[in-house]
Amino acid sequence: MARTILSLNRNWLYGGEATAGSTAAEFDDSAFERVTIPHSNKLLPWHSFDDLEYQFVSIYRRHFTPPAELRGRRVFVDFGGVMTATTVYLNGERLGEHLGGYTPFSFELTPHLRWDAENVLAVEVDSTERADIPPFGGLIDYLTFGGIYREVSLRAVPQAYIENVFARPVDVLTDARRVEVRCYLEGNDEDTGRSLQVELRDGERVLSTATAEAAPGATSVDLTLSDLGEVELWDLDTPKLYAVVTRLLEGNEVVDEYTTRIGFREARFTPEGFRLNGRHVKLRGLNRHQTYPFVGQAMPARVQRKDAEILKRELKCNIARTSHYPQSIHFLDACDELGLPVFEEIPGWQHIGGEGWKDIACRNVEEMIRRDWNHPSIILWGVRINESGDDHDFYTRTNAIAHELDPSRQTGGVRFNYDSELLEDVFTMNDFNPNELRPPKHPLYLNTEFVGHMFPTKHIDNVERVQEHVDRHARVHNMLGADVRYAGGIGWCAFDYNTHSDFGSGDRICYHGVSDIFRTPKPAAGFYRSQCDPSDEVVLEPAFHWAIGDKSEGGGIGTGIICSNCDRLELYVGGELRATVEPDRERYPNLAHPPFVTDALTGLWGYRWDDLRIDGFIGDEKVISKSMSARGVDRQFHLEPDDTQLVGDGSDATRVVFRVTDEYGAARPFATGAIQLAIEGPGEIIGENPFALAGGVGAVWVRSRQEPGVIRLEATHPVLGPKAVEIQVSQAAPEAC
Ligand code: GAL
Repeated sequence: MARTILSLNRNWLYGGEATAGSTAAEFDDSAFERVTIPHSNKLLPWHSFDDLEYQFVSIYRRHFTPPAELRGRRVFVDFGGVMTATTVYLNGERLGEHLGGYTPFSFELTPHLRWDAENVLAVEVDSTERADIPPFGGLIDYLTFGGIYREVSLRAVPQAYIENVFARPVDVLTDARRVEVRCYLEGNDEDTGRSLQVELRDGERVLSTATAEAAPGATSVDLTLSDLGEVELWDLDTPKLYAVVTRLLEGNEVVDEYTTRIGFREARFTPEGFRLNGRHVKLRGLNRHQTYPFVGQAMPARVQRKDAEILKRELKCNIARTSHYPQSIHFLDACDELGLPVFEEIPGWQHIGGEGWKDIACRNVEEMIRRDWNHPSIILWGVRINESGDDHDFYTRTNAIAHELDPSRQTGGVRFNYDSELLEDVFTMNDFNPNELRPPKHPLYLNTEFVGHMFPTKHIDNVERVQEHVDRHARVHNMLGADVRYAGGIGWCAFDYNTHSDFGSGDRICYHGVSDIFRTPKPAAGFYRSQCDPSDEVVLEPAFHWAIGDKSEGGGIGTGIICSNCDRLELYVGGELRATVEPDRERYPNLAHPPFVTDALTGLWGYRWDDLRIDGFIGDEKVISKSMSARGVDRQFHLEPDDTQLVGDGSDATRVVFRVTDEYGAARPFATGAIQLAIEGPGEIIGENPFALAGGVGAVWVRSRQEPGVIRLEATHPVLGPKAVEIQVSQAAPEAC
């Protein structure tokens, strides 16, 4: 019998602030609130709240009776992530403590488990900013929120079991390609004739197998999968994944099985830039925080995955950085499936603590790598505290841990000090001057942040500011394109994020995203989107809204920027051809698709202001057309769910966007109004109701309840009236205990 993994996400009892005795077995929790994991210890407005509201010690309890068939096996509870320090009790017995909110941890329940009776897990969660735990101790420009915000499960395994498997494809571009598998064992003490069997699979097809003895006392066993023949590579457009199935046998009986996904790719930073599968790829990406409005980090798999989809499909990035901590495995799984390379890093922000703190940071390196080493999307480990000063001994240690655990990947360590000591393989540098980049300092060089705090931007900013935001991102990528020694750049950042009052625009938000906190695009997102090949998508994104008098001087747009991958644009005002424009190759000679820059979109103050139409051509063919109204009226109200199907497990959720546009569907960035929401069926709204629209767009999330049915969400705009969407909720498999 192989291992059993049982989800333990429903029917938790949440008591808010922990009180004396609330971890005891007999504690009366009948007044606690019934909640589902992922859970945030505090629901919050999307901005202008006090982060002290979630900084407290809370108590969660979960009653369960283990299924009888697990008897005789070792049982563990696995936590994906709890913010920030966690103490776990089973039936009143303290099992231990885990420090750090971004990495998984487990406790063995077996010695204290009652087989014929109810058990109670009590989890005390300290969500204060404890100076002894990274990233805390100094100031940090993001919020960490609180609660059991990632999934929990029970795992039943035999006495000796597979603890982890690192399956590392080697020499993938040659005929000698193979997979070096290191299988980690726990409890392998007595001699019961154990052996390991490993298989490389493509669906049902077995490509290669290997076997080895697991001698008593061995804590790891190496095997090699060879003679693979041709394999499909993992690449940006074809992210082919294979499975590695590892079995532990006692005699002929399979007692444990562990499956992991891998991809065959060679990813190297070189003096000639980044090379994927031997091909040069200029990296163009964005930094991502995994936080969301209202619930902080406590979003389920579907929502975490959606960010990867936005980065890949809407923003056309070919790299994302998990600033500044190991992010959701669901996000990383989606990056694997979508072909989106990732630079993942340990928790921290500028501050380095004392020796105990550094020990935790070193453990974070290990926990991050051991959790994520099989993801083909991960191409670089970040083993330095973001933007910290030099610390020779500390960073010698973090690099050594990374290289020893994973000899296949290079390390980076993000800095803003150009003259800092390089102990990593790749010099990863935040360089914020949008007019002049520092030259590559070392042969392997990647820009890991630019724009950012130099230029917060909101939907409601005037036309000059949003265009400058677009232009800064375009300018920096253009400069990076000038020199092959720049491996590329990762702009700050993808999405606006909640932050402390020491940062941001004064309402607990940093508006540094090319998309807002709801993940709806600002004009700068149009620049990223336009850099794809037209065979992927034909893109035409004006970097302005159409207004005669929204800038400091003169009428109309002035110098207008239009992001597009067309060959030529024709601009019509009031139906008359104003100009034919070509990509501005002089200003942006190094971009695949230079934005179009035009002075033809002027208007005369006090004269007639007419509709704009932009036709895009590839060769002689008109391939896209967009219009923007001159009427200045909010005409349409759109309600757009990301998904129309959810699973009725009480945690599955999807975003529903509200958008006000003109009659052509163009954004109306100054549209406001209280959006009234009404929900029927087995779902609830994560968000504010009424939702005060600002900037013409906003969103809430709809979360399933633990029953099937149809959710109907109706949103009513005060002038434009109601719109409704339906979301089907399917029956979820029950939890076994
Ligand atoms: C960087 C930092 C980021 C963010 C950014 C704001 O210095 O690494 O986390 O704070 O500035 O622009």
